[in-house]
Amino acid sequence: MVQSPIIPVVGELIRSHPGVISLGQGVVSYPPPRQAFDQIAEFLADPELHKYQAVYGVPRLLELIEAKLRDENGIDLKRADQRGRVVVTAGGNMAFVNALLAVADAGDEIILQTPYYFNHEMAITMANCRATLVPTDENYQLRPDLIASAITDRTRAVVTVSPNNPTGAVYSESSLREVNEICRARGVYHINDEAYEYFTYGGAKHFSPGSIGGSGEHTISLYSLSKAYGFASWRVGWMVFPEHLFKAVNKIQDTILICPPVVSQFAAAGAMRVGAGYCRAQVERLASVREKVMSELAALGDCVVVPPADGAFYFFLKLDTEMKPLALVERLIKDHGVAAIPGNAFGMENGCYLRVAYGALRPETVAEGVGRLARGIGIITGKR
Ligand SMILES: Cc1ncc(COP(=O)(O)O)c(C=O)c1O
Repeated sequence: MVQSPIIPVVGELIRSHPGVISLGQGVVSYPPPRQAFDQIAEFLADPELHKYQAVYGVPRLLELIEAKLRDENGIDLKRADQRGRVVVTAGGNMAFVNALLAVADAGDEIILQTPYYFNHEMAITMANCRATLVPTDENYQLRPDLIASAITDRTRAVVTVSPNNPTGAVYSESSLREVNEICRARGVYHINDEAYEYFTYGGAKHFSPGSIGGSGEHTISLYSLSKAYGFASWRVGWMVFPEHLFKAVNKIQDTILICPPVVSQFAAAGAMRVGAGYCRAQVERLASVREKVMSELAALGDCVVVPPADGAFYFFLKLDTEMKPLALVERLIKDHGVAAIPGNAFGMENGCYLRVAYGALRPETVAEGVGRLARGIGIITGKR
C-alpha cells in the first residue's frame, strides 16, 4: 500500500494548534528573484504561448539549463562520453516519476537508501515496483558494499539523494563515484537527486555523478528550482538522462503533463539568469540558522543523537525513547508548540527518529522554535 503523505497529516495538526512553530515542511522562506516575474510580461505579449508548447521545455530555458549544467555541474551534454538529454518537468518529483516509468516495469526493483525521501518510495510503490531498502551508516552516509549486494536481476536503478532529504548528509565524491561505477558494471541506472545542490555548509562540496566520464549511458540526474530559487509553487525542475531513454521519457511526459507550464518556464528562465548567486546568498544566512539549531540540539546531551548534516536544511535526530514517533510529534505540537516530521515516514521503522527542517525559519523564529523542540524532547524523554 502507498503510504499517506505525512506533510498534510502534520500540517492539519499544526493548523488545529495555533501558534505552533513548524520545523516540518522542507521549504525555504524566501521568494523567487524579482527578475523571474519580469519574464511574465514577455510571456503575455505572445498569444501563441497560450497554446501547448514542446513536451521537453521551451528553448530559452533549455539553453540556460545546458549552460548551467556545463559550468556548474561539469555535465557537458555535447561531450561524447556524457551525451544526454534534458527534459524540463513540473518539479523534481515529476522528474523522478518520469525516470522511474522510463526504466522500470511492474515487479522491478529500485534501490533506495534509508532513510529515504518518502515521495520516491511512494512513486515506486504506485508503479507496482518494489523499493529495496539499503541502510546508510551511523552518519547517514552511503554503504556501497551493501548497495552492490542488494542488486538482483530485477534491479533497474539505484537512487541517491545528495545533499540529502531527510538527513542533510552530503555524500562524498568518492562514494558517489563508487556507486556510479557499481551501477555501470552491473547494468543498472544511477538516479541522483540534486534538488539541494547549492545547500552545503562548511567545507562540504556537492558532486554530480553525471560529470563522471563514461557515466552518460546509465546516469539520470534530477534538479529542481523549488528550493534554490524559492520556486516551490511554480513547479519547475528538470532531468538529465541518457539519449536512449528520450523516446520513453517523451511518451511519459506527453501523457501526464503534455508540456511543463509555459508561464512557469518563462519565470524560471528569469530566475536562472540571475543565477546561483541568488541562492548562495540565502545559504549564507541559513548557515547561521543551522549553527543555532546545532547548538540547541547539542545542549540536549545524550537523549538525542544528531549525526553531522552538512547540507540541505535538515537534521535527522535519533531519540532515546520507546515512544512511537507520531505520538511524540503530537505531544510536541500539543504541549510544546513545535512541529517536526516523524522518522517512520522516511522508512525508519526501528527507533524513534525526527526530521527537523530549518529552511523556512527566520532567525528570530529559529531560537524560539528550536528552544521549544529541545525543551519538549527533554521533558518527553524524561531527561530534563
Ligand atoms: C530530495 C527531493 N527531491 C525532490 C523534491 C521535490 O521537489 P519539487 O518541488 O521540484 O518537485 C524534494 C522536496 O522536498 C526533495 O526533498
